[in-house]
Amino acid sequence: MSNKTTVISKELLEQQLAFCNHIRQYWLDRDTTPLAYVETYGCQQNEADSEKIRGLLIESGYSIVQEAEGADVVVMNTCAIREHAEQRVFGNLGALTHTKRRHPGQKIFLCGCMAGQDHVVQRIKKSYPHVDGVFSTHHLWQFPELLDRVLYTGKRSYFVEDEPGSIAEGIPQQRDSGLKAWVSIMYGCNNFCTYCIVPYVRGRERSRKSADIIQECKNLIEAGVKDITLLGQNVNSYGKDLDEGMDFADLLQKIVEIPGEYLIRFMTSHPRDASQKLFDTMAASNKIAKQLHLPFQSGSSRVLKAMNRHYDREAYLEKVNYAKSVMPDLVLTSDVIVGFPGETAEEFEETISLIQQVRYDSLFTFIFSPRAGTPAASMEDLTPKEEKNRRFDRLCAVQNEISEQIHSEYVGKTLRCLIDGTDKEFLTARTEGGRLVRFHGAPSLVGTFAEITITGSNTWSLIGEFK
Ligand code: SAH
Ligand code: SF4
Ligand code: F3S
Repeated sequence: MSNKTTVISKELLEQQLAFCNHIRQYWLDRDTTPLAYVETYGCQQNEADSEKIRGLLIESGYSIVQEAEGADVVVMNTCAIREHAEQRVFGNLGALTHTKRRHPGQKIFLCGCMAGQDHVVQRIKKSYPHVDGVFSTHHLWQFPELLDRVLYTGKRSYFVEDEPGSIAEGIPQQRDSGLKAWVSIMYGCNNFCTYCIVPYVRGRERSRKSADIIQECKNLIEAGVKDITLLGQNVNSYGKDLDEGMDFADLLQKIVEIPGEYLIRFMTSHPRDASQKLFDTMAASNKIAKQLHLPFQSGSSRVLKAMNRHYDREAYLEKVNYAKSVMPDLVLTSDVIVGFPGETAEEFEETISLIQQVRYDSLFTFIFSPRAGTPAASMEDLTPKEEKNRRFDRLCAVQNEISEQIHSEYVGKTLRCLIDGTDKEFLTARTEGGRLVRFHGAPSLVGTFAEITITGSNTWSLIGEFK
């Protein structure tokens, strides 16, 4: 298949960098160092996008600060996955009327997944007059142009036209950490799970060229990064839109050929496309973390069909069993939705039995939230809210017990961990599987891999000893 993805040309990106210089001039003329605050909601994809937004702001002369109070620019990078996420954004956006009153020059922008929904844009236009600009994920690379327009004209501006999506290489990026990094390998999603808004707000699936990804990883590793997470809504369909003849397992293999001491992990894997080849590739390299986030969403094959997930309970279990057979120490995590429209009490019990069978290290649990425009939002949903809450609480209780048990089984083991920070009198580290370990040690150890013996545990973290 030929590459139909639109790649933003170098010339267009240079135009945006020229806008950055123009903005810099605006502030030089006023003899001020402007301040910018970026608030991020949602998943790692948004975290990675915020690093680019900060990169563009720094390029435009801004210093990044940690609060909206007093900032000249505030950017809210939003998530649309559930109603609760959107309500939080609207609440916090409303509160910005006060910071703007105290600092009238403040320019406020809303971007991210919520900005990809027309009804949200209309609501902002109508009811949030203090918001100066809105841009959807497709227009992130044009943020300098939008900011420039708002600054120089004072007019509210919108870059929200819907499109299949493109790839922009070379946007400056201000990374949060020198030790861990996100690397997007693809954008968008083609799966259209019936409950999910992502394909509507992030466009069609498109893969970055492998050479660009490998070069980025190489630069990061040479700069001292020790832990890289490859990002995509479904990394297992990497490369299908390219004509490189390379799938995700091939890409992983190429990346781990980069010399150095580091770990590669990735998310998210769609179970439909998770292959034995992928698990074999993971098993064969000590540079690939033995961690797999494999969302199952429901333990009922009927519900999975209604969700348009393209696998059933049996196929899912078969894949998990194979993965565990080639990686006995695999740390498995997952996402699950309770209360999908029409989910019966028996079907919910199938979800419980699946988690008991698989025994995940931890789970991200969600109550179904109808998203306007998705098929599931108009499906008949007769289960009362109280019953959904009851199912949710039971699910969490069952999982907590499993997590606690699995954690207690770590005690006595010695594991290779990346020491990644401090927390009060403790150092913190992550096991290869991403579990948090606290222990006493010299702060100079931060940034190194070390063998840590686990001496205690609770539901959420492990206690260790470094000798
Ligand atoms: N691309 C990833 C998931 C991204 S969204 C994948 O397919 O695995 C993260 C999680 O949010 C999903 O796995 C799902 O469990 C949850 N989610 C998505 N839409 C939801 C909705 N409408 N209501 C409740 N949970 C939802
Ligand atoms: Fe949403 Fe499904 Fe795509 Fe994941 S695979 S982002 S759940 S549509
Ligand atoms: Fe939310 Fe968008 Fe991620 S909807 S979960 S921020 S892809």
